[in-house]
Amino acid sequence: MKLNKLALLSILLWLALAGVAAWFFVHGQTAPGTDGRKVVKLSPQERALVLMEMRGLLQSTHGVIEGLSREDLALVAKSARAGGMAAAADVNPALMAKLPLEFKQLGMSVHQGMDDIAMAAEQGEKSTVILQRMSNQLARCVACHSAWQLPMDAPDVPR
Ligand code: HEC
Repeated sequence: MKLNKLALLSILLWLALAGVAAWFFVHGQTAPGTDGRKVVKLSPQERALVLMEMRGLLQSTHGVIEGLSREDLALVAKSARAGGMAAAADVNPALMAKLPLEFKQLGMSVHQGMDDIAMAAEQGEKSTVILQRMSNQLARCVACHSAWQLPMDAPDVPR
């Protein structure tokens, strides 16, 4: 009987913990920003990691556009691939818990979109169609940047 109660208690504790983890996975750690956007509260190191990934995405974007302008589909494929899912795979779980679900989904869809562009270029898709794909990608960059902010001095971030 005693053992049953202990088992029940541990199951309840486990469920509570799973609930907390799920809550963070969906909501992340956010706050209202100063310019109408929402703030994701990251430590300086996590912020630096996300911004580095961002600069990588800009570099990929440049390579894709450059490749398209020169009809160099190999350059398009190589540049897009560099910003694909593999570029996001090493993100740590602590950071994942701080990013809201919407942010993660949008971010992953951009990385997936880069892989799709790489594949399209490898298969010799028409430049105008690849350009249309890239335009869809940029719409996602714009959507996320107009919704979220990563300030240096995010409130309540442990330094
Ligand atoms: C899931 C959300 C999201 C997506 C998608 C996204 N970004 Fe960002 N990006 C951000 C946030 C948030 C910042 C920080 C903005 C701020 O604090 O004002 C940022 C910052 C940047 C920066 C500045 C980096 C630095 O060192 O300061 C660049 C460049 C950038 N993004 C490029 C891109 C490009 C290009 C794309 C699309 C191919 C893209 N981003 C898609 C969220 C996103």
